[in-house]
Amino acid sequence: MNTPVLEGRIALVTGGSKGIGFGSAQRLIEEGAFVYITGRGKDALDAAVARLGSSAVGIEADASSKADMTAVAERIKQQHGKLDILFANAGLGHATPFPDLTEAQIDKEFGVNFKGVILTVQSMLGVLSHGASVILNASITADMGLPGFGVYAATKAAVRSLARSWTTDLKDRDIRVNTISPGVVPTEGYSDEQGMTQADVDAYVERVSKEIPAGRVGTSREMGDALVFLASDASKYVRGIDLVVDGGMTRVYAGKA
Ligand SMILES: NC(=O)c1ccc[n+]([C@@H]2O[C@H](COP(=O)([O-])OP(=O)(O)OC[C@H]3O[C@@H](n4cnc5c(N)ncnc54)[C@H](OP(=O)(O)O)[C@@H]3O)[C@@H](O)[C@H]2O)c1
Repeated sequence: MNTPVLEGRIALVTGGSKGIGFGSAQRLIEEGAFVYITGRGKDALDAAVARLGSSAVGIEADASSKADMTAVAERIKQQHGKLDILFANAGLGHATPFPDLTEAQIDKEFGVNFKGVILTVQSMLGVLSHGASVILNASITADMGLPGFGVYAATKAAVRSLARSWTTDLKDRDIRVNTISPGVVPTEGYSDEQGMTQADVDAYVERVSKEIPAGRVGTSREMGDALVFLASDASKYVRGIDLVVDGGMTRVYAGKA
């Protein structure tokens, strides 16, 4: 059996009760980390912690609230005195035809995906350890034009930019900041946020899989695998990058020559 690469590390995953955040928390724990997960819904958090086991704690907190994230930082400081891995993962998006886009939707997506990421990382500055790894969840949509996802994609492009700026802001503390850009990963968000039925998801997965060199969509655990790399000492010399985890979808032509 391989030695766990994150033994003794303390981690925070925002939006860890479902989807990519949950799969990532699972992988961090398997590699020896103790993981705090956040989310707004208590029931989902409790269910997630029950599955993750004794190396996980759930905290109800809205990632777009400075007060909530400050309270999360205080709790981690009191209980463990340090934070080694921060995955700012909480985010959402909804496909909306451009003419139908409302101010409320723009505010919601920027509020969580952009402002929330800033407030999350800023709130943790006092507890992040020297040499910590900060990972922001971006998206392949930051590189693509995708119908109805203009605002969402723009928030994710902004997140990639933040990672590069913060790499310089935090270099004296040897804190690394990188982004991960998942490809197509069917999660609870496809129904909860985007309102897709299971039949919609199945049809989409079948269609899009043909455009992915790997021949299939990704899983939350596979995003967690990439996260473990960015969280661990194996990526000590990796700073300010965007790690695209999309089965080759945005970098490789999947058709015939
Ligand atoms: N799935 C994909 O195909 C895909 C692709 C590229 C990028 N991403 C990115 O990956 C991240 C996770 O997506 P996902 O598909 O795993 O979503 P998901 O299945 O909907 O899970 C989202 C998680 O975030 C929590 N959350 C949402 N808003 C929050 C807030 N304001 N504060 C705290 N927690 C919040 C949710 O719990 P509550 O609702 O209870 O708060 C839930 O635990 C997002 O940043 C998304 O943009 C996803």
